[in-house]
Amino acid sequence: MLIDIIAGARPNFIKIAPIIEAIEAIRATGIDMNYRLVHTGQHYDKKMSGDFFEQLGIPAPHHNLEVGSGTQAEQTGRIMIGYEKLLLDTPCDLCVVVGDVTSTMACSIAAKKVNNTKVAHVEGGIRSGDWTMPEEINRIVTDAITDYFFTTSDVANNNLRKAGIADSQVFFVGNTMIDTLYKQMPRFTKPELWNRFGLIEKGYIMMTLHRPANVDDKEKLKELITEIVRASQGIPVIFPVHPRTAKMLENMAINASNLHVIDPLGYLEFNYLVKNAKAVITDSGGITEEATVMSVPCMTLRDSTERPETCTVGTNELLGTDPKSIAPAFEKLFSGQWKKGAIPELWDGKTSGRIVKHIARIFGLS
Ligand code: UD1
Ligand code: UDP
Repeated sequence: MLIDIIAGARPNFIKIAPIIEAIEAIRATGIDMNYRLVHTGQHYDKKMSGDFFEQLGIPAPHHNLEVGSGTQAEQTGRIMIGYEKLLLDTPCDLCVVVGDVTSTMACSIAAKKVNNTKVAHVEGGIRSGDWTMPEEINRIVTDAITDYFFTTSDVANNNLRKAGIADSQVFFVGNTMIDTLYKQMPRFTKPELWNRFGLIEKGYIMMTLHRPANVDDKEKLKELITEIVRASQGIPVIFPVHPRTAKMLENMAINASNLHVIDPLGYLEFNYLVKNAKAVITDSGGITEEATVMSVPCMTLRDSTERPETCTVGTNELLGTDPKSIAPAFEKLFSGQWKKGAIPELWDGKTSGRIVKHIARIFGLS
């Protein structure tokens, strides 16, 4: 059988790497499973794409749709047109999409409309309940046409049940992002900036911001950063900046000697810094999961999360988006009262193997 693996944006690359490895491993046992890697080109900068292929050993994509940036509709349209052409030319048996980015939704729609191609959604069923986020729309639309759901939590299973999805379509397998985290942990790399900024273990904060609600308004962004710096009690704050945020930071003067604004980091360097940080402050989804598994306190600048287990089980806490909530959270951190957290069920590094075994069984290969 031929499986299309779709990836378009930074978090996708981290989620597909172990799935590809698991396909290669099962093929080596004589099972007739092959894949075609389709990069949509949603993210294209070396620091947002190419570096992850190199560091994680992901093979070069068989196809790159090179859609680039644009509005939601422009990107969706270009991805659908590009992927539809590919499928009309060479069909596949299963289209595997991961996560909740525009590439996820666009390719699932294109696949369903060409020969009713089966769609599997890795990370299906998660919901924030916030319809102002493009990701929530992507999740709802993708899940409405998905055939097989590979889920990360029991909450996701319940969301799908409530939406009327049959239990036979839902496979609770765990988290492929955590497969990559465990596999790469021994290779985490101390970046050169460690010495340059005089970092010490558990003596600095990692920060990332890229959600439109936090970064698309310059005043709001400046207020958030200023408040984080003020609350950090002078310890270094390392801020690898997403390109969306970088555009907004141009000409924004924030004078703070402990704030280090840097380019996006490679996976191995970024997670070295998260593992050794005193805490993370972020609006990312994936980073809340990684911080949970590495038992690093995590403050999330959002009102909702589609990953509630990072809060109920893990180290994550939602602060909301009001800058006033930042100082009390830092006080709790500095007084040593942050929760320790535990690791959610099945986030054990073996998720991709489970996914591939389910696919082999569903398609009658084993
Ligand atoms: C996208 C996802 C978001 C995910 C994030 C991961 C959607 C709707 N959003 O958000 O869920 O959390 O990726 O990082 O799919 N840009 C570059 N270089 C690049 C990529 C983007 O400069 O390689 C800039 C462009 O100006 C672009 C902007 O960043 O317009 C936003 O990129 P886009 O892919 O539309 O959304 P993200 O904010 O990256
Ligand atoms: N990441 C990275 N370098 C960075 C910032 C993030 O390698 O400078 C990794 C991080 O470890 C996680 C993923 O990128 O695996 C998260 O991506 P992002 O926050 O862009 O997207 P989200 O998870 O919010 O969709």
